Formats: sequence, C-alpha cells, structure tokens
Amino acid sequence: MLNRRDFAKIIGAGAIIGGIGGLYAISNMGFPRITYDYSVFDPKNPANFSRPLRIPKSSGVFGVINSPSNLEMNVVTDSVDVLGAAPTNIWGYKTDVGGETYINPTIRLKKGENFSPNLVNKIQQETIIHWHGLHLDWKNDGHPVYAADSGKNYEYNFKVPNRAGTYWYHPHPMGLTAQQVYGGLAGFFIVDDDEEESLSRSLNLELGTTDIPIVLQDRRFNQESQLVYNPNHMEQFMGFLGDTILANLTPNPYLDVDTRVYRFRILNGSNARIYRLAFVKDNKKFPFQLIGTDGGLLERSFKMSEVFVGPGERIDILVDLTEVSLGDTIFLKNLGFVSTGMMGNMGRGMNGGGMMGGMMGGGMMGDVANGSSLDDGEEFFVLKLVVKNKVGYDAQIPEEPSKIERLDISNAKSRRITLSGSMMGGMGMMGWLINGYSYDLYSYPIQVNRDSSEVWEISNVGMGHMGMPHPMHIHGFSFQVLGRLGSPTQIGRYAIDDNGRLATDSGWKDTVLVWPGEKVAIALDFSHKYPDEQIYLFHCHNLEHHDGGMMINYKVI
Ligand code: C2O
Ligand code: CU
Ligand code: CU
Repeated sequence: MLNRRDFAKIIGAGAIIGGIGGLYAISNMGFPRITYDYSVFDPKNPANFSRPLRIPKSSGVFGVINSPSNLEMNVVTDSVDVLGAAPTNIWGYKTDVGGETYINPTIRLKKGENFSPNLVNKIQQETIIHWHGLHLDWKNDGHPVYAADSGKNYEYNFKVPNRAGTYWYHPHPMGLTAQQVYGGLAGFFIVDDDEEESLSRSLNLELGTTDIPIVLQDRRFNQESQLVYNPNHMEQFMGFLGDTILANLTPNPYLDVDTRVYRFRILNGSNARIYRLAFVKDNKKFPFQLIGTDGGLLERSFKMSEVFVGPGERIDILVDLTEVSLGDTIFLKNLGFVSTGMMGNMGRGMNGGGMMGGMMGGGMMGDVANGSSLDDGEEFFVLKLVVKNKVGYDAQIPEEPSKIERLDISNAKSRRITLSGSMMGGMGMMGWLINGYSYDLYSYPIQVNRDSSEVWEISNVGMGHMGMPHPMHIHGFSFQVLGRLGSPTQIGRYAIDDNGRLATDSGWKDTVLVWPGEKVAIALDFSHKYPDEQIYLFHCHNLEHHDGGMMINYKVI
C-alpha cells in the first residue's frame, strides 16, 4: 500500500502522480492532436451542445439498482465512451445484477432497508467507499483507516438510517481520494421514504425519465481521449480544474424535454470547481424551484434564478416547462463569479494572465501554462434542454414539500472552527488547516459527547489576503445552518433571512460552502444509536485540499 509519506514524496518531487495507478496519461507533452479537439468540447460555445445526456437507466453507466440487499462493488479499471472518440480509461464501481452490468450504479434504497455491499478492490491502489451523507457507524462510513489494499475486499452491512434524499458514494483512501474520484469513482445513492414517494407521485415524476440525477464534473483530456490528472504545486494548493465539463460523463449534453415539470438532482462531483447555476432562455434567467438540499426535501420551496453549488453539495430542483413552446431551448449555465481572494485570481488559470503567475513563473506556480483553460468562476454552458413534445400536465409544485424540525440548541455547546492557510501545510508546502491542524490519521483533535448538541462556528480566515471558499463536509451526521456573517456581496445578496442564510441553507446539509472572510454557524445533534465510540471526519470537499490535509478526525465519545 502506498502510504501518505510516499505520496507526499511523489508530489514533492513535482512528478506526475497520474502514473501511480496506471490510469492517467502523461499529458501536455505536445502530442499532435489525434482524437481530441478542444474546440468541439468548449463549453463556452452553445453550438457544441449536441450529445445526448447520459441518463441513469436500467443498466450500464449510472444504471439504477432498486433496493439491492447486497452488491459486489468491484473497483476496476475499465473504459467508457465519454468523448465519442477513442474510449476513455476510467476507474469505476462495476457490478452485475440479474445478468446486467452496471458501472457506478445509482443505488436506490428505502429508509430502513438493509444493505450489505462488498467492496472488491481490483485496482493497484488501496481504496474504500464512503457513503456520503449517510449516518452510519464509522466501520461502515469508509474512514481511511479501513481502506482495502489492492486485491482485498471490505464488507459493509447497514440499515439505511437517513430520510429520503440524494446522497452519493465515492472513495476515501488517505491521500488518494482526489485522483480516484477524478478517475471516475463516484455514484448516486438515492434514499426514498413515504413522503418522497408521495411527492413523486403527485408530480408524476419517474427516476431516469423526468427525475434526473446529474453529476457535474470537470475534467481534462489529452489528445488520446484519456483523463489527465497532473496537479502542479499551485493546483495541489488551490484545487485541480478541468476545462471539459461533463454532466453524467457526457460533454456538452442536451436533453429532449416535454412541456411538463422536471426534477433535477444535481450533484457537484467535481474535485474543486464551484458552480453558480442558472437556467437561461432567450438571454433571460428562467426561474426554478429549490425543493431539496443534501439531506432531502425542504419545508418550503424557493423560487430561484440562480444557486451556488460547491463540491460535494447537492440541490434538488424542479423546472416548470409547462409554459414553454415547442422548439424552445433553455440552457443550464454556469454564471461568472469571483471564485477566490486575490491570490487565486492571479495564480491559477491563465486567463487573468495574472501578475503572480508571471512573477513566480519558474517556481511554485511554474506550471500554470499547463493548467485548465477554464478558470473557476468563468462563465460557460452546462446542459441544453430542447422542448420536443407538447403534453398535458397540471400538477402543482408543492409549497411545503416536507417538515423539518429545527434542532434544539438551547443547551448546545459552542465550538470554534478556524479554516486557515499556511505556508507549511501537511506536505511541507502550502496547505490549508482546520484549527491549525493538518490531517493525522490517528489523532482526534475534536471530541464531542454522544447525544449532545453543538453549534460550530466555522470561520474562513484564509491567509492574509489569500482566501478560498471551502466546501466543508461532515461525516456521520447532518447539520442545520444557523447563519452566515461577513458573506461576500455575491453571496450575501441572496440571504433569505436576517441571519444571512441562503435558500440552500434552509434544509438538512452535510456540506456547506464557507466563503473567504465568512463565518458560518451550524447546529449539530450527535445523537446516535451505535454502541461504541465513533470516529468520523470533518473536512474540505475540495479534494485537493482534502488530500492535502484539510481534514480532521472527530470522536463521538
Ligand atoms: Cu464526500 Cu469525506 O466525503
Ligand atoms: Cu461524506
Ligand atoms: Cu478547502
């Protein structure tokens, strides 16, 4: 097994880490173009949106498996047609059920059902599955200490404890998470319950037809249609961005739609990219309804024109197409925004042609020229909806999709969490810290009492003038956002109440974006039914930050 120190050495040497698992191509070596012509995939050009969106169907990539009691989740190297040219080698979760083969299956279970998957590791690195958002005991949670070596397996066994919602699963091994997720390992985990089923019924929604899970991922490809993952020092610090935007592993997708209501469950499965999503028709924003977040349905739906989604977060939205005309097109777009404090704008990405990039060209930021041509916060298109059929549809979007009980914080203990940057991070270079710590697998800097409540005040203090938004994620429990202080204007203007909360803060969450200079207060209830002490993680879901040590163990005692 490759331990963290070896990994650090490899990174420290500035080598291409992609070679480790044999998956990634060595890129940017000036190959002549063979099959990959970027201009065909450039998401800034709406004319490029000509590939049918890959939709979770009854088998294949993202195929839906209903109520499996067990699954053999084989972690394999495989190839998938992503670009419509040469097949792309990926890592995937492969499983066979009833004579059908699935890759990264959409696993769909009801609350309370038992599920006993077996992870079989057939790749050359250690790995472990984490069930993102599920409230499991830590042996089932996918903590990196349980990573299975190459050739080994890991058995899970749990009863789905969560309310209905759009959860997901992905690898979580020490120091290897970013490259394994980037390599393709990620799938949806959809939980149903009675309330969810009655909502779906009343809106006549069907998973895979009118209720469509969409995972957004940005990737880089070389001329042979292979994934490229070669973060330079700056990208290890800031996060690795791709310039080809994939929705369900489809670049520049379109979807034919009817004149009715659609549900999109959007997961930001990107390593580092934040999206500011809006629907646009005839150059005007086309509103949608937010009905759910990470942990399921909201107590009231919000009519919105745009929404930020950070890595790891999910939004559950309804788009009402009953009034549009045949032949209309509506784009899901990423709007421009300011992604970072001053450093990022200058250091990462070529487009600013930033001063620091120039100044430090030979050093730390040396490779910017090889970086993504699509900076964080740049504007581009994501998905084209094409209105194909006129149908009758008269269901009403519910104003109160669910009930959410507010956590009682009258006896809550409060705890400060500080997110900062450091010139000496976990790998002896620039990195990000939580309460001054860089991740150590065997220390537990935070201890909480079981069955108690806490309020965590998370401050993103950055490093001098340098700051980045951090999508902070907790394992084991969901939380409620109590308020935001010091939000940048581009965030603060969407506040729905005097506490500065956003519409996306109004439901159950497991991941929350904390912007530079912001303080976000969250309420947690550490009640659980597992017999022993539990060890969980709290970390940044920017996966380069995650692997760089922006992670902390907490123990529930
Ligand atoms: Cu989706 Cu610990 O992460
Ligand atoms: Cu998680
Ligand atoms: Cu971060």
